[in-house]
Amino acid sequence: MLKFSKPEIANYDEYREKAEAAYRLLRSGTGKGSEFLGWLDPDAEQNRIEDGLIETAAEFSANSDITVVIGIGGSYLGAKAVIELLVPDCTRVVFAGTSLSGSALERLIKRLDGKEFSLVVVSKSGTTTEPALAFRVLERELIRRYGEKAAAGRVAVVTNPEGGAMRQIAEAGSYRIFTIPDNIGGRYSVLSSAGLLPVAIAGIDVLALRGGSSGFAGSDNISQALDYAAARQALYAAGKKFEALSLFEPNFQYFGEWFKQLFGESEGKDGKGILPVSLNLTADLHSMGQYMQDGERTMFETFLWADSGAALTVPESAHNFDGFNHLAGRRFDGINRIALDATKAAHTEGGVPALEINAGIPDAAGVGELLQFFMLTCGVSGYISGVNPFDQPGVEAYKRNMKKLM
Ligand code: PA5
Repeated sequence: MLKFSKPEIANYDEYREKAEAAYRLLRSGTGKGSEFLGWLDPDAEQNRIEDGLIETAAEFSANSDITVVIGIGGSYLGAKAVIELLVPDCTRVVFAGTSLSGSALERLIKRLDGKEFSLVVVSKSGTTTEPALAFRVLERELIRRYGEKAAAGRVAVVTNPEGGAMRQIAEAGSYRIFTIPDNIGGRYSVLSSAGLLPVAIAGIDVLALRGGSSGFAGSDNISQALDYAAARQALYAAGKKFEALSLFEPNFQYFGEWFKQLFGESEGKDGKGILPVSLNLTADLHSMGQYMQDGERTMFETFLWADSGAALTVPESAHNFDGFNHLAGRRFDGINRIALDATKAAHTEGGVPALEINAGIPDAAGVGELLQFFMLTCGVSGYISGVNPFDQPGVEAYKRNMKKLM
């Protein structure tokens, strides 16, 4: 069960009321970008797990050592984050199409040598340069390896319900097709087939994941998401322009990347927006700690705590040269939690207001709940600041320029 907590914030009550109004606007379906609210009701008929998805995942897991998932941005980060959270050492799913690096693709092709493999390509538009080019290379490799007919059974495409380049490619190649509903934008699509197919191939229970997002509305999570959105915007109004999401488990790193896209693309427009950054602690305390403690005071910090559930304890040392025998027998998780408390106290004292989200021990259902919590916070927070949290004109501008220059 999620728990959000915040310190006293001067103008908080005013922003809490704005959050209520923003939530009503979101629910009314009359706010900016309301044609992209398909993610808001996880239980809506359009969001049911698509027919054949679980079967395809089982088939690819059984017939492939590696499934290469090709996609970028919203067609990549959600799946990557969930897999890292729930199957941190997953080797069954690898990602491609996340850059224009030829050497990364060459290394991947070498890695596939002697391995059985399949492809999942996730692209809503089908015309995004990075995944389109990676798909060309990997599709050619697949056909070279298996022949055209057998290769066709090893490709799944996740794209627009109708039309689009990727759908044309899929139809021409007789590939199986899954869809991202028209009313769900890339960064809100993790619980659609865009995220569910890759995570199911990684062996994650997608029913439990979806169960967590469905259960969301039944708890006080909505109210807590409004608290979080209100606290963010109240702090922004008070001059805190950056939000550092501080994470304490290495397998949360990609959750941080997903968070950055979600909030950065949703709020960074019309000359405003909180700049989202993520910190991987405690490692970054030894690199960014100085700045956090003592640099420009224009940030607030959101601590995201999750207990890893690990039972590992610190061993006793016969010589105790390092002087840490007083920690012998203590769980690493407990020491990690002390690091959070110590950091929070130090940074607060240094003038960085601290919010905290406690995610408990996130299993598949807990991760579903966490994703829905952040997406709702983001939609509400964007509406409070008056922007359209569901478009991305800046990303489209890059894509257009890229095409022109090429
Ligand atoms: O959130 C977004 O809209 C973007 O990050 C897109 O997901 C990303 O650019 C990939 O687009 P597409 O799925 O059309 O290939």
